[in-house]
Amino acid sequence: MKQRRLGVRVGLTGALWVGLVTLTGCSNGADTHPGQPVTHRQVIFKKMLRTLEPMGLVVRGRNDYDPAQFTQLADQLKTLSTQPWPYFTPDSNYPPTRAKSEVWSKPADFRAAQQKFIDAVAALDVAAKQNQLDAVKAPFAAVEASCKSCHQQFRGVPH
Ligand code: HEC
Repeated sequence: MKQRRLGVRVGLTGALWVGLVTLTGCSNGADTHPGQPVTHRQVIFKKMLRTLEPMGLVVRGRNDYDPAQFTQLADQLKTLSTQPWPYFTPDSNYPPTRAKSEVWSKPADFRAAQQKFIDAVAALDVAAKQNQLDAVKAPFAAVEASCKSCHQQFRGVPH
């Protein structure tokens, strides 16, 4: 009898938790830190991914190349490329961040990775304006590589 009641309570708590997760849209609850730096930078990274993905489909031949649309995406990525970095503030290594401690312990390397990425995106943006699919392939690959190499160095599992 006692055990069943416990089961019911756990069940209710579980349902409440699921409700909260749905409300905040985040598995670790709301970001209550001043200025919400982790939330802000994660939102920007997601926008970067949503910009990168459709370009990737075109470069890989899965979608048709529309020069105007591609250029617009490259422009958007260029705008986004400088935005996440100010949100890596000194006191912003808190859950659910995926940032590794190296972001804070190796600031010069982190800045170099940002610059490499910003430069790669700028080059892609210039190439896109040639309106030729062949011209964007290599610069696009360089952008992807710069996302990946920074993630290898500075992005880990949520903590
Ligand atoms: C200079 C380093 C760096 C570059 C370049 C970079 N990222 Fe990241 N990215 C990070 C770090 C660090 C995090 C973890 C942020 C956090 O959770 O606080 C991250 C997180 C993300 C996330 C996860 C957001 C979330 O909600 O957990 C996505 C998606 C992402 N990056 C996509 C990209 C894409 C796409 C590119 C290239 C177009 C890119 N990133 C370039 C460092 C970088």
